[in-house]
Amino acid sequence: MKEAMLQGAKQVLDNNFQQDGFTIPSKGLYPFQWKWDSGWIAIGLAHYDIERAKTEIRTLLDAQWENGFIPHIIFHNESDTYFPGPDFHKSELHPLSHKKYRSTGMTQPPITGFVLQEMYRIAKDKEDMMNFIKEQIDKVYQNHVYFYTNRDPLDEGLVYIYHNWESGTDNSPIWDDIWDTMNPPKYTFERRDTTHVDLSQRPSKREYDHYLYLIDIAKHHSYDDGKIAEFSPFLVQDPLFNAMLIKSNSALLELYDLIGGNDAKKALLKQWQKKSIANFNDKLYDLELGAYVHYDLRNDRPIRYLSSSSFTPLYSGIPDKKKLEGMVTALIERFGGDDKYLCASFDPTHERFNPRKYWRGPVWINVNWMLYHGLKNYGYPELANRVKSDTLELIQKNGFFEYFDCRKENLDTDSSGYGGDNFSWSAALVIDLLTEENT
Ligand code: SER
Repeated sequence: MKEAMLQGAKQVLDNNFQQDGFTIPSKGLYPFQWKWDSGWIAIGLAHYDIERAKTEIRTLLDAQWENGFIPHIIFHNESDTYFPGPDFHKSELHPLSHKKYRSTGMTQPPITGFVLQEMYRIAKDKEDMMNFIKEQIDKVYQNHVYFYTNRDPLDEGLVYIYHNWESGTDNSPIWDDIWDTMNPPKYTFERRDTTHVDLSQRPSKREYDHYLYLIDIAKHHSYDDGKIAEFSPFLVQDPLFNAMLIKSNSALLELYDLIGGNDAKKALLKQWQKKSIANFNDKLYDLELGAYVHYDLRNDRPIRYLSSSSFTPLYSGIPDKKKLEGMVTALIERFGGDDKYLCASFDPTHERFNPRKYWRGPVWINVNWMLYHGLKNYGYPELANRVKSDTLELIQKNGFFEYFDCRKENLDTDSSGYGGDNFSWSAALVIDLLTEENT
């Protein structure tokens, strides 16, 4: 079983690899390079084709803007299977955007720091990998400088996102409260996602109006961060995004230690890290819910719902023992019934939960991967192993889908795999989970 699954996963990654040196997330549905997808993909590739893993990250970092920003989509190629494409996003409006690559003007969770660390862990030839890391690491560091300089207006060490697509958890019910504060125009456009995936598994047309409107506001200000912080109706401190930044800070610190020197960079990383972790715990932990929540910076209020993002700080070593116990209880009680696979992307006990709709309920492999490592590192091997075996079982039974129904008995359809098929990061992270014992 293990060998067949590994071969299947490699096949998915090999088929999705593009000549321009990157891997598409899924044919048709996502035909370009996505930032956090590339990070997860590189972890999987590192197990069997280290040169391609390096190429994936090199291509991504090559598209970095002069101000350190790394875009969420890089449009290396033409494609008419995706909307909104480069002509809608118009990254060239920002004076420091890349002159060669067109992209979006928004970003995605800061994954590249801990991906370099993972690649080093996996690589057999450590010296060769260290040479690659030395070549790339300052770009990642500059990306963190960008975040702390431009995305932290209150100087809290907690960076904001200005668009739901920056969170990665696109249509989470978390954002519904923000949509209620907005009234965007009704756009006329031709959606392409629903030609690949059933609408019941994707965001609604009205949600897309909000997504496009937020981009239009940012474009109106030529993607200027200061102006976006002032005017965007969507300004959120997201626990998943910030947890990944904190994890990447730790990774950069460890890698700079191995490289030696770089004292000024390490000092700044330590300073950020201290402030970020302290304010993360003070501001984003919700005692009553027993886990971390999002904070709506525009409307100055916490958004008090549990989602799988609420538990990702486990991966970054953020909670202390007391918070940890609250989190494990919340995870088991709300998300972990015997009739469910871990971990639903939104609280299954809440009325906004929808088991089929993208980030409103389904299980995602990348979040499970973070939860697995977090629980394991905090000394919960049983729960960690449950997350891992649930993950592998979902893939085994359904294939390398983008997301999965968390209900063990799913009477709605004969497959619990939803969204794009042959989805790259599902394949990549299965390779990592299946081979971790050997690395
Ligand atoms: N995932 C988004 C989409 O559905 C963009 O990042 O298009």
